[in-house]
Amino acid sequence: MKITVVGAGAVGATCADNIARRELAEEVVLLDIKDGLSEGKALDMLQASTLLDCDVKITGSSNNYELTANSDVVVITSGIPRKPGMTREDLIGTNANIVKGVTENILKHSPDAIFVIISNPMDTMTYLALKSSGLPKNRIIGLGGILDSARFKTYLSLALKCSPNDLQGVVIGGHGDTTMIPLTRLATYSGVPVGHFLDAETLQKVAADTMVGGATLTKLIGTSAWYAPGAAGAALVESIVRDQKRVIPCCVYLEGEYGQSDICLGVPVVIGRNGWERIIDFELNEEEQAAFNKSADAVRNMNDILKTL
Ligand SMILES: NC(=O)c1ccc[n+]([C@@H]2O[C@H](COP(=O)([O-])OP(=O)(O)OC[C@H]3O[C@@H](n4cnc5c(N)ncnc54)[C@H](O)[C@@H]3O)[C@@H](O)[C@H]2O)c1
Repeated sequence: MKITVVGAGAVGATCADNIARRELAEEVVLLDIKDGLSEGKALDMLQASTLLDCDVKITGSSNNYELTANSDVVVITSGIPRKPGMTREDLIGTNANIVKGVTENILKHSPDAIFVIISNPMDTMTYLALKSSGLPKNRIIGLGGILDSARFKTYLSLALKCSPNDLQGVVIGGHGDTTMIPLTRLATYSGVPVGHFLDAETLQKVAADTMVGGATLTKLIGTSAWYAPGAAGAALVESIVRDQKRVIPCCVYLEGEYGQSDICLGVPVVIGRNGWERIIDFELNEEEQAAFNKSADAVRNMNDILKTL
């Protein structure tokens, strides 16, 4: 198994590090456009692996795509992150060119790869990667819901004063501060609906904190977060390479599911060796479906910007 991570910045390097530590592949390649950055970080990780008991070949590549040849999975994190006060949508012009170019370059050397798209605005970048590559829809997976759900479970565990390991909670819709939908109705604490333990006001606050989870970190750190996004990338890759068939909320191409078509949006999907294998098309209640439709409208507006670039 060979995995390439494009973008050796905060998210890409953390993702590659998590992939290596979990020995998800025999070979990991980190590629960046900045000379030396990926080689340096790959060498640092290789040295760390001697202390961590993991045996993975990690190499860096300064924009040489030949080194990525025959990758089974490619994670795209290249692009600019947001700064305080910016939305993910502000990044579209710059990142669209980067994601399109990177996808083309990767496909020249790894025609069978499964793509995980992390660059923001992720829903639109996933749609762009799918449309510009012409790949089968199951091989393009946008990462957003798995991270947003981790944030949702974090805030729930703080409110419940419990272990996040006992929580189930899913965030669907777009990966934006106003477009994501934490499904509080369906979240459970060891099988019991969280509404049994938390009042409506607390649940609303948990949902609101989740939605601005990324912005809160951007404000604190001065740039967007990387530990949880990198770990989320590795967890998603693990379900692919180990064919775990985990149900993970991911941004995938919809053709009528959840009442939406010709759009990439976050829904629960089964993730295995073939990429995303099946959408869990669960019936939402009226309020949730209305929020999902509103989220789709916002993402569609963003996708329209692609036509003007
Ligand atoms: N989907 C998510 O949940 C999620 C979470 C966090 C961050 N992000 C996004 O991930 C992206 C990366 O964030 P970051 O914090 O790692 O940024 P960063 O600036 O630390 O790293 C980005 C890297 O991409 C590289 N790059 C730029 N153009 C490139 C190209 N054409 N080819 C190869 N490499 C190129 C840069 O040199 C840089 O090293 C941003 O768009 C950010 O908004 C998404």
